[in-house]
Amino acid sequence: MTRPAGARAVRQDRSTAAGAVAERVVTTRERAAPHAEIAEGGRGDAQAVEEALVLDFGGQYSQLIARRIRECGVFSELLPHDLPLDEIRRRAPRGLILSGGPASVYSEDAPRLRRELLELGIPVLGICYGMQAMARELGGRVEAAESGEFGTTPLTVTERGLLLRALPDRQQNCLMSHRDSVFEAPPGFTPLASSPHSPVAALEDAERGLYGIQFHPEVVRTPHGTEILATFLEDACGCHMSWTAASIAEQQIARIREQVGDGKVICGLSGGVDSSVAALLVHRAVGDQLTCIFVDHGLMRKSEGDQVVAAFRDNFKVPLVAVDAQDRFLDRLSGVTDPEAKRKIIGTEFIRVFEEEAAKLDDPRYLVQGTLYSDVIESGGGTGAATIKSHHNVGGLPEDLEFELVEPLRTLFKDEVREVGAALGLPERLVWRQPFPGPGLGIRIVGGEVTRERLDLLRDADFVLQDEIRNAGLYRQLWQSFCVLPGDLRSVGVQGDERSYGYVVVIRAVTSDDAMTADWARLPYDLLERTASRMINEIPQVNRVVLDITSKPPGTIEWE
Ligand code: XMP
Repeated sequence: MTRPAGARAVRQDRSTAAGAVAERVVTTRERAAPHAEIAEGGRGDAQAVEEALVLDFGGQYSQLIARRIRECGVFSELLPHDLPLDEIRRRAPRGLILSGGPASVYSEDAPRLRRELLELGIPVLGICYGMQAMARELGGRVEAAESGEFGTTPLTVTERGLLLRALPDRQQNCLMSHRDSVFEAPPGFTPLASSPHSPVAALEDAERGLYGIQFHPEVVRTPHGTEILATFLEDACGCHMSWTAASIAEQQIARIREQVGDGKVICGLSGGVDSSVAALLVHRAVGDQLTCIFVDHGLMRKSEGDQVVAAFRDNFKVPLVAVDAQDRFLDRLSGVTDPEAKRKIIGTEFIRVFEEEAAKLDDPRYLVQGTLYSDVIESGGGTGAATIKSHHNVGGLPEDLEFELVEPLRTLFKDEVREVGAALGLPERLVWRQPFPGPGLGIRIVGGEVTRERLDLLRDADFVLQDEIRNAGLYRQLWQSFCVLPGDLRSVGVQGDERSYGYVVVIRAVTSDDAMTADWARLPYDLLERTASRMINEIPQVNRVVLDITSKPPGTIEWE
């Protein structure tokens, strides 16, 4: 399967506040050998933590497999399919999962499955391409089927065996995405299931610890997929299923202490959950050796700056420098309408302010970054696969060193970061804050200049929307919900028997797993009506509210 094109490529400079800092100061030293760093993993004590490794053959959902395995209570990382065997032996994982991939097992440049992998004595689960490669390697018959299977497909279980023992029914749906099929299982294997175009859609040789499924257990469109993964991990691999994201907080704290020693650390707080959790972990590790810098660029949502300052300075007692740089940013943005120019200006100005503040501190040596595992993977650092998009936090950074990076979230997925944040006592509002772009409201005033008046108006409109969404209990179900202000656009209305000529506010709300694709959210009509009438009543300059019903693709989540 091919991965969806990352829409990030559309925009050139997507630096976030904290990311922008990293672009200036990280060296090759920190960036060297991402695999080595990942190989050390977030597991902490390698002896104590059970893990299952996903070997990536290029599948669209490979990352999701690792995520689901972690949800089952087993630590998991996504690594290249050609990870050296010695490295695998050294890590001694409880199980190996061979991911799907876009190639046909017969094509010349198809990624090869090394037979030795199947002979390490570690249970192996092949998924889609992974199963076909295993079947072919061991003497099964794999051929192009008359017709491929793409999408939801009926599956008939003929034999539950070990792998499918948790499935409630013999008939169920699963997500398929393949053209080749296994027609005959290799000697010693038992076929477990079939689908209309996959004579062998699941198979196992429990004696040898080898299992395969043609469908994707990691996606929600395979309703009992997680149970299959859990059966593999628990019954085939003997895992104890006790890993939780929160349980690694202590290990991360120990790692930070080891890295930083008695050095001074700085962290750019953006108000988002990633930098907040990263900062808290570092603070737990080295206390007041950490200073956080919060640059208020005036492009945040209503009261967010105050909430960050209250949580960190007042509640957690973290040394915090809060810089009011609103005027500086507004001056620099004056007259600018081009989206990329705005991003650049905001990113560059942020670095300037941050550096000025850092220079006032007592020679900080370390910089905290909230880089997530998905950032590492998407930058090609985790899997060795093609770079999907270059992320602002990772890779492609200049050589001039000032700081060494501390990245305590580098092995965590976003939902796990929230788990750690909650365990560390971060207020719920911060833990569950929706993603917010580094350039903030600056890229939500579109087709017109960013001015103080417009920012205030947009903040007020956004506040109404969030308020209604929270009251309806929908906030956590949405990936993002926000307003866009077409800056120079005005519309005619009639208010109080008089003609009005006011701003138009756009409501944008999407559901998504990872922002690579998104669906417009079907917000209830009565919520929309209340929101629109509140915006028009409470914000005098607004006289029209519209709803964006574009999914991604073809749209992007943000408007520019
Ligand atoms: P798009 O608009 O490309 O956005 O669908 C995908 C996700 O990225 C966020 N986004 C940004 N984040 N700097 C950031 O840090 C940026 O310049 C930027 N532009 C978009 C967006 O909010 C969504 O979550």
